[in-house]
Amino acid sequence: MRYYNTTGSQNKPYLDGWTVCFAVSLFQPVSLKVNKSSGVFTGFLLLSIFLHNIRVAFVYLRKCMFAVISDVHSNLEALTTVLADIEERGIKTIYCLGDVIGYGPNPEGCLDLIIEKTRWCILGNHDYAVFYEPTNFNYGAEQASFWTREVLETEQATSSRNSRWDFLGKLPMRQTLKTKLGTNAAIIDFVHASPRRPINEYIFPDDVYTNPLKVSLLFERVKHICFVGHTHLPGVFLDEPDFYLPDELDDVYPIINDEKAIINIGSVGQPRDKDNRASYVYVNENEVNFVRLAYDFETTMEKITAIGQLDDFQAERLRDGR
Ligand SMILES: [Fe+2]
Repeated sequence: MRYYNTTGSQNKPYLDGWTVCFAVSLFQPVSLKVNKSSGVFTGFLLLSIFLHNIRVAFVYLRKCMFAVISDVHSNLEALTTVLADIEERGIKTIYCLGDVIGYGPNPEGCLDLIIEKTRWCILGNHDYAVFYEPTNFNYGAEQASFWTREVLETEQATSSRNSRWDFLGKLPMRQTLKTKLGTNAAIIDFVHASPRRPINEYIFPDDVYTNPLKVSLLFERVKHICFVGHTHLPGVFLDEPDFYLPDELDDVYPIINDEKAIINIGSVGQPRDKDNRASYVYVNENEVNFVRLAYDFETTMEKITAIGQLDDFQAERLRDGR
């Protein structure tokens, strides 16, 4: 793997320039009274500062900043914690990689928030299971799908019921974003599972050792960057092939022009890397930042155990992060 300078030096606040401009403008009338040449000089100074700030403000407005979330799995406590953190960072654009529902106790609330807060959402295998049918699910996951479907079907408010089903029925399998991240051009694919089987294929970290050919074939389908969820295990795959945990990257992966990466962003509502905190990423300039957040999983556990059709294991795994 290449090594990068990730200090984010391009993120200097442009208010510094405005402050100087304001301070100089306060002194201008005084300097004009002193003599004419100093007034002309101050005028030029003001003009150059003004032009500088226009340029910096333009760069600031062009900054690409967005968050990517995935695998909420009807966990309202985790989702609201993550959304609050995203809002606190001033991030306005959120993309979701699917599995909004399944496993957890609050499918309606989570769907409503995803509909309201995200720019787009991708179809996950659990969304597919509820809308169409479960495929290759174990008994507990299948039961959770059927219970979720029943909850959504028995919603009394017609508009809420229709908007949720409409949303689930229109989820795409893939989205692509062509953008500039800092000085780097980027083509970013968003899928739930993998670039070649976007709904159901698992890409596990061990694949880089046990099945490198699979990883190579997956990278043939990647133009540049591909965000995935599905395994609930955050980290970065490179085409060497190799896999890097967020810890090994100090929680930051810098996107550059000539390096392909498949980036698993982890799970909001059911982390499985032995860390029970909610996981998501945000992208600022060319840096993908991995975030973990503690949330009130005990409340989610209580809700799950109170619902007979949901397996208690779905509650226990939230505590253990598995
Ligand atoms: Fe999932």
